[in-house]
Amino acid sequence: MKVLVNNHLVERDEASVDVEDRGYQFGDGVYEVVRLYNGQFFTYDEHIERLYASAAKIDLVIPYTKEELRKLIESLVAANNIHTGNVYLQVTRGVQNPRNHVIPDDFPLEGVLTAAAREVPRNEKQFIEGGTAITEEDVRWLRCDIKSLSLLGNIMAKNKAHQQNALEAILHRGEQVTECSASNVSIIKDGVLWTHAADNLILNGITRQVILDVARKNGVPVREADFTLTDLREADEVFISSTTIEITPITHIDGVQVGDGKRGPITAQLHSYFVEEIVRSCGELAVAK
Ligand code: PDD
Repeated sequence: MKVLVNNHLVERDEASVDVEDRGYQFGDGVYEVVRLYNGQFFTYDEHIERLYASAAKIDLVIPYTKEELRKLIESLVAANNIHTGNVYLQVTRGVQNPRNHVIPDDFPLEGVLTAAAREVPRNEKQFIEGGTAITEEDVRWLRCDIKSLSLLGNIMAKNKAHQQNALEAILHRGEQVTECSASNVSIIKDGVLWTHAADNLILNGITRQVILDVARKNGVPVREADFTLTDLREADEVFISSTTIEITPITHIDGVQVGDGKRGPITAQLHSYFVEEIVRSCGELAVAK
């Protein structure tokens, strides 16, 4: 397996980063996860726009143009012969010796790009059968719109879900539901799709944006607004979404069944619209065996 370290493709076992990289020491950096189907990127530009936007929000300069970055990522995908899989890429603020919270203003740090690509098939069983979730107080910082490397709040919540055999942790600030540890959450109530507005309290998921777009185009009413834990518990359907899990139904929350405990009809319909978008940009998907 080859990985990218700056503009070099190297064997994974031979790749190294500096111990005084600010990404390693402070989580000072940003990242993206981009999906490929049939060897083609899905929503690549949207992910890369968000990467540069996240970087700009923390005054991090990505040391490549978007065109240069695309060539590098394409070379990574080709070197690993990825058909249906994920590219993880991150850019840190770079190496600072000695460690100092202060970002130096007298000499610019060189951003460090690392990326890896892996074959990951679509989990069609999970798209249909769904999974369970727990609810957990959202203790993260107030800039969740930045796809930051610093993910302690997310991983603590995800791990708590994992310990309870749940797929995800649905996060809430008091009564208000925000998103999940590694995905966005939406509910269907009386035929309306509800999801938190794209403000500083959530990551504006690219998958979320595609879902809202296809929902609007196909006449599913959308409400981008806060909803409460009570709304969540009383929802007809609940689903989570991300690049890697597409649209995954949530069948139980904190052990209590959602609706009839099966993927709901609007969730299924939205997923088929979503798949149409994938097919439009990446070609037909193989039928599950
Ligand atoms: N996570 N919210 C959070 C906190 C996330 O970490 C993610 C994605 C999303 C959904 O974003 P998108 O639809 O653009 O993937 C929402 C990625 C997949 C990860 O960290 O692995």
